[in-house]
Amino acid sequence: TYVVTENCIKCKYMDCVEVCPVDCFYVGGNMLVIHPDECIDCGVCEPECPAEAILPDSDDRATEWVELNRTYSAQWPNISRKGEPPPDAKEWDGKPNKAPLFDA
Ligand code: SF4
Ligand code: F3S
Repeated sequence: TYVVTENCIKCKYMDCVEVCPVDCFYVGGNMLVIHPDECIDCGVCEPECPAEAILPDSDDRATEWVELNRTYSAQWPNISRKGEPPPDAKEWDGKPNKAPLFDA
């Protein structure tokens, strides 16, 4: 499965949801997650993310985000249409240590 990781926080560009063939993205306060049982591993979302926040779960950088994607995709609402990203998304893109800013 694919996993949304740290750099989505406060960037939340949502380009990913427009390309997912099975609509398996779920939206929280400041990031999205992927439902691991619904993702068909097609990989098309990965290059679409301007923040490069989507990784296959086999990637070491994704490991610590796997459980969070599973947990919150079961709780948050589904999202299949791109909305307006945060006005300051660009400022947050690539900032280190965004994990503590996670907003459920
Ligand atoms: Fe959707 Fe494919 Fe991305 Fe999985 S890998 S979240 S199915 S676009
Ligand atoms: Fe997040 Fe990238 Fe999608 S920033 S909302 S994973 S396009």
